[in-house]
Amino acid sequence: MRTEKGFGRASSPSGASTGVHEALELRDGGARYGGKGVLFAVKNVNSLISKRISGMDVSGQAEIDRALCELDGTSNKSRLGANATTAVSLAVAQCAASERGCGLHSILGKGKIPAPMLNVLNGGKHAGNGVAIQEFIIYPLNFNSFSEALCAGSEIYHTLRALISKKYGSAATGLGDEGGFAPPCKKTEDALDLIEASISEAGYQKKVKIGIDAAASSFFSSGKYTVDGKKLDAKGLTDKYISLAKSYPIVSMEDPFHEEAFEDFAILRKKLARRVQIVGDDLTVTNVSRIKKAISVNSMSSLLLKVNQIGTLTESLQAASLCQRAGLGVVVSHRSGETEDTAIADIAVGIGCGQIKSGAPCRGERTAKYNRLLLIESELGPRSFAGASGLVL
Ligand code: PGA
Ligand code: ZN
Repeated sequence: MRTEKGFGRASSPSGASTGVHEALELRDGGARYGGKGVLFAVKNVNSLISKRISGMDVSGQAEIDRALCELDGTSNKSRLGANATTAVSLAVAQCAASERGCGLHSILGKGKIPAPMLNVLNGGKHAGNGVAIQEFIIYPLNFNSFSEALCAGSEIYHTLRALISKKYGSAATGLGDEGGFAPPCKKTEDALDLIEASISEAGYQKKVKIGIDAAASSFFSSGKYTVDGKKLDAKGLTDKYISLAKSYPIVSMEDPFHEEAFEDFAILRKKLARRVQIVGDDLTVTNVSRIKKAISVNSMSSLLLKVNQIGTLTESLQAASLCQRAGLGVVVSHRSGETEDTAIADIAVGIGCGQIKSGAPCRGERTAKYNRLLLIESELGPRSFAGASGLVL
């Protein structure tokens, strides 16, 4: 996107474990790129969208996003494609920042650097290892700066690699979709033991906590959850989470149940109150009406925010502020199918939510976000690091 004084470029990511209520990612179908091409979405950007928003003022993000929603006219962006609208909406924001000669984060607000949640061991749809839980996250939050937190995360990640190599052989150190290792652990506890050992071996026992993203819809079928070779109902899975929270320093659990299980989320949240943050991702899909339901049922303590789940920046910011006004936390997140776009780093800083998920500290599409945060920290100073303040228990 170009204006007289500005330039903005953005891209939209994709997910392997998408929630059924997410906005539609428009793909071409047919043989080209195995059906995953995006020529229709690109055409929508260059024809319909371009025609509608050309001449509008890029400092009016909300008006442009409203125009995108009206032009689309569906409840899930299925006419234009949320991949088309996300990229345009974020390009508008980048263009507005460029017109003002500053970074995107500074036109969005507060300027608080989030603590990184690094997904270092992958399972579920992000790996082929038979581990049900999708993400095992290290959460370095007791540090004085983002750069120290990231350094600890990276040291732990490499310690984990050595431990996996020792236990399963070096062939088991291949990576899953988000850059975490994907060893053939037999049980959830095996994965957590490895992570706990790598945190302590790296010398960060008190400063680094653990999180999980179960992405439980992916192992839910006919009323049962299949975990570690057992079929559990919601009560059985609740007991399992409670016992994991007793045995390990877990402070965050995302999508512990399937995407319609508002009540089961609420039960777990109550049982783990003040100990574990319960995060809604597939449950709420950055969608204000689903978030309102989750708030009314008390399902979650924090929202996972992904711009492409809803399709515009304005709607994402509305989702975040709805949660923040209700006393809930927000975790800004990447997708398993990422690009090198760094807008989510700026969004996390701008809304001051204090938490970001961007995968393991490796591979360009993940490190791009962490590197962007290092750069922002060099501008704003280490005092702007959120530390543990974003975590809502
Ligand atoms: P996805 O996974 O991008 O594959 O949906 C990320 C997540 O579940 O948080
Ligand atoms: Zn998730």
